[in-house]
Amino acid sequence: MSQQTKQSESLMKTYNRLPITVEKGMGSYLYDTDGKQYLDFTSGIATCNLGHQPLAVKQALTEQLDSLWHCSNLYNIPKQEELASLLTKNSCFDQAFFCNSGTEANEAAIKLARKWSGKESIVTFTNSFHGRTLGSLSATAQTKLHEGFGSLLNGFHFLPFNEYESLSKIEELKPAAVMFELVQGEGGVRPANKEWIDELVTTCKTNGILLIVDEVQTGIGRSGTLFAYEQYGFEPDVTTLAKGLGSGFPIGAMLAKSSVASSFGPGTHGSTFGGNPLACAAGVETIKQVTALLPKIREIATFFEQELRELEQSTPSIIEIRGLGLLIGVEVENAAPFVEKLREQGVLILTAGPNVIRILPPLTVSYEEIQHFITVLKDVFEQQGAVHQ
Ligand SMILES: Cc1ncc(COP(=O)(O)O)c(C=O)c1O
Repeated sequence: MSQQTKQSESLMKTYNRLPITVEKGMGSYLYDTDGKQYLDFTSGIATCNLGHQPLAVKQALTEQLDSLWHCSNLYNIPKQEELASLLTKNSCFDQAFFCNSGTEANEAAIKLARKWSGKESIVTFTNSFHGRTLGSLSATAQTKLHEGFGSLLNGFHFLPFNEYESLSKIEELKPAAVMFELVQGEGGVRPANKEWIDELVTTCKTNGILLIVDEVQTGIGRSGTLFAYEQYGFEPDVTTLAKGLGSGFPIGAMLAKSSVASSFGPGTHGSTFGGNPLACAAGVETIKQVTALLPKIREIATFFEQELRELEQSTPSIIEIRGLGLLIGVEVENAAPFVEKLREQGVLILTAGPNVIRILPPLTVSYEEIQHFITVLKDVFEQQGAVHQ
């Protein structure tokens, strides 16, 4: 077996690994151990939003390496304060709690909602994905992911996403919180309907129910704004972040309005590594870079959509194109062969469920790279006889 296809026996088999051994990443490209170049339209699943090794973040990390790597949260940590201040200044939130991943950020949000309300019940929606630790897994309304893990956390109610019948049920249940993604990423790149969100927000505000928006995948510019909620015209009480926040350096965060955040006092929640100075240095530079890039991201996302819509005209096997900003889904009958065929041509993409091709280019992607991607995608559709000439 070549190094490209060999899977380490020392690793648990929690992932079905593709036959590529990645050695290096630079800009929009990954390189394998044979030196083959791949146009990376996965961005580490919406994580390397500024491409691989973005220079400014690399410099910030290098500087931080020379001063402080880790320090207990028992002390004031300037980089942490700087990141919290950047995030709150650029959002509707007042305070930040730092952790290391998306699932941890959601754990924090679940605990905060319970502490704030004194209630256990939280509504989440079908096909959601909130993480793999037991609390976030309990919130994830995909029962196939629950199998084999025994009893989960009490209090979660799963209601249909984008369905009006869910709103009367929420009024009836009066949960502590409603927790949702504005575009369900893992669940098939499904954007929430604007009108439905308007009604959901009204229902929650009227009944004193917390709005927790999981922006782990949609956040940090991926949607075309720093946070996707900005495009839906409301202010959540709590949001959760990870993935793109550190440009590939592990970090998670929960942001909250002070009226809710004040329920957490000393000893109520914590994390040894949460707010680590290196992670926060990566976060500070990432936010500075992404906020400066936002108009360009919207421009390039519009161009990408136009190119895909044009391809759709001649490709009847495209069932639907959907998404927000540079979180893009193309629904087809069977998505898996596309991952393989594009990989053969040096382009990496993802799926989201069995029939959605998920495209997550770096936010720094160029027009030429998008055009190349479209040419390769069209070629793969043509190989299947799916394009009208
Ligand atoms: C919306 C959403 N929430 C939470 C998570 C979990 O994040 P992590 O893998 O960093 O724990 C993910 C990961 O895909 C996600 O997409």
